[in-house]
Amino acid sequence: MMKRFALLPAAGVGARMGAGHPKQYLDILGRPMIWHALDAFQRHAGIAGMHVVLSAEDGWWNAYDWSGFDKLKVWRVGGASRAQSVLNGLAAMADELSADDWVLVHDAARPCLSQDLLDKLIGEVDDDAVGGILAMPVADTLKRAADAARIAETVPRAGLWAAQTPQMFRHGLLRAALERAGPEVTDEASALELAGYAPRLVESDTANLKVTYPRDLELARLLLAASA
Ligand code: C5P
Repeated sequence: MMKRFALLPAAGVGARMGAGHPKQYLDILGRPMIWHALDAFQRHAGIAGMHVVLSAEDGWWNAYDWSGFDKLKVWRVGGASRAQSVLNGLAAMADELSADDWVLVHDAARPCLSQDLLDKLIGEVDDDAVGGILAMPVADTLKRAADAARIAETVPRAGLWAAQTPQMFRHGLLRAALERAGPEVTDEASALELAGYAPRLVESDTANLKVTYPRDLELARLLLAASA
């Protein structure tokens, strides 16, 4: 039986939020955002451990209470890109797991992951040879911009999905794929795709939103308050 571990890259600065400090520490119901992202994995019995990657210069983490998280390990090995932070985390956690164990990479900026969605992802991917991700079929009509304010064309949305996290892959396969793909890929699945694999799509839920802009934070607060 393969074990499952969560890996949360949290070494970004969240420039699009325009907040005074990294977005993973913005307050939601009296806790930093990343606390809620971690809580989903702490509570799930199918997750053996959780690992967080921080920037070496992170001066925020130690100000908070993490005492309820007995599965948690923290590594100050953040890189210049998300992919590099994930790769550094995979290297740091390598002693604790085998190449075939699962790693669920999850954004610190997705604080509303429910136990039901986590169950669904694990249920659909656990027996998969490659791995898979939570994602949403695109609902809006898509436009490609000619410049900042004008439409150049409509992009057919049939078959298009918006990738979310967690993204669940075997440690050895993911590490090799990310090493080969380089630091610019924006999610783990892209690295696997570049290596010729076709990761599984598991239909998600709009509640698993990524906090990117200030309005997203208000929505995340409402969703978490409703589920508390
Ligand atoms: O900026 P964005 O929302 O795409 O970041 C996604 C996740 O990747 C966040 O949890 C962020 O902290 C993390 N990240 C990282 N190292 C970087 C850039 C982003 O760990 N250099």
